[in-house]
Amino acid sequence: MKKKYKSCFFYYFFCLSTLYACSEKTNYPEGKQLYDSHCASCHGKQGEGLESLIPPLAAADMLQNNSASVACWIRKGLEGKILVNGKEFENAMPPNERLSNTEITNIINYVQNAWGNKHKFITLEEVNQVLKNCK
Ligand code: HEC
Repeated sequence: MKKKYKSCFFYYFFCLSTLYACSEKTNYPEGKQLYDSHCASCHGKQGEGLESLIPPLAAADMLQNNSASVACWIRKGLEGKILVNGKEFENAMPPNERLSNTEITNIINYVQNAWGNKHKFITLEEVNQVLKNCK
């Protein structure tokens, strides 16, 4: 009886700590994984960007004010002069033709809700629609 109680307690503790670890990290684990392998080398693990070369994604007005078009930037790349938090950037981001629409959706939901960013959830249907109309 006592042994049973003990293992039950450990099981309960294990569940709690797993839940805690997951909720601590991110609600979008797939998006995080994709971000870490496709974006973090430039934009940084914390979305901090790189001086005047790469714009930040954390607390970046350009990302916050553009929900849908982000999908096209990821798929097609982005270049030319842009303004992020009042700072000018003029560089080129390469396209990601091989990321699927679902992967792009996961990445967007991750970056728009990581590092203090708070944005509404974007659905796969919305992203499908946007990607049909990229310039
Ligand atoms: C090779 C480096 C590189 C990689 C990899 C890269 N980016 Fe970029 N990204 C840039 C640069 C440079 C710009 C600015 C382009 C310009 O000046 O027009 C940019 C701009 C952006 C912007 C708009 C500006 C802002 O800060 O809000 C977003 C959003 C963005 N990138 C998201 C991503 C995401 C998501 C990924 C991964 C799928 C990614 N980038 C991968 C270099 C990169």
